[in-house]
Amino acid sequence: MYSEKVMDHFQHPRNMGEIENASGIGTVGNAKCGDIMRIFLDIDENGIIRDVKFKTFGCGAAVATSSMATELVKGKSIQEAMKVTNQAVMEALDGLPPVKVHCSLLAEEAIHAALWDYATKNNIKIEGLQKPKSDIHEGEEEEEY
Ligand code: FES
Repeated sequence: MYSEKVMDHFQHPRNMGEIENASGIGTVGNAKCGDIMRIFLDIDENGIIRDVKFKTFGCGAAVATSSMATELVKGKSIQEAMKVTNQAVMEALDGLPPVKVHCSLLAEEAIHAALWDYATKNNIKIEGLQKPKSDIHEGEEEEEY
């Protein structure tokens, strides 16, 4: 039912954890199942994603897609990261069962939410980025001045 790549990323997730003083943090919830995903981005002064970590309270498919998504955005520019859609992540994982497609949206949305957080903090505009609908804004208070 699951591809080998999905199983591999589920069993050995890449980039799990958090980043202290992250440039951007995005937290989103999946309305369908109630699962939660948080992405931390460390972005350098040239707009390159130096590091990325994720934490999830979610299913195996959410873990695998987040793991793959972090691999796909690491070392990339913000514009390149914007192209990492859930479709791209699923292709990189050799597909997901149809009932699990919604899980892959968590990673994409959390990355966008983290980029939005970064853009807001730095007062910049990221081409094509929309305000995240489901950003939970958890823990943001402590990051304010
Ligand atoms: Fe909730 Fe997969 S069932 S993210």
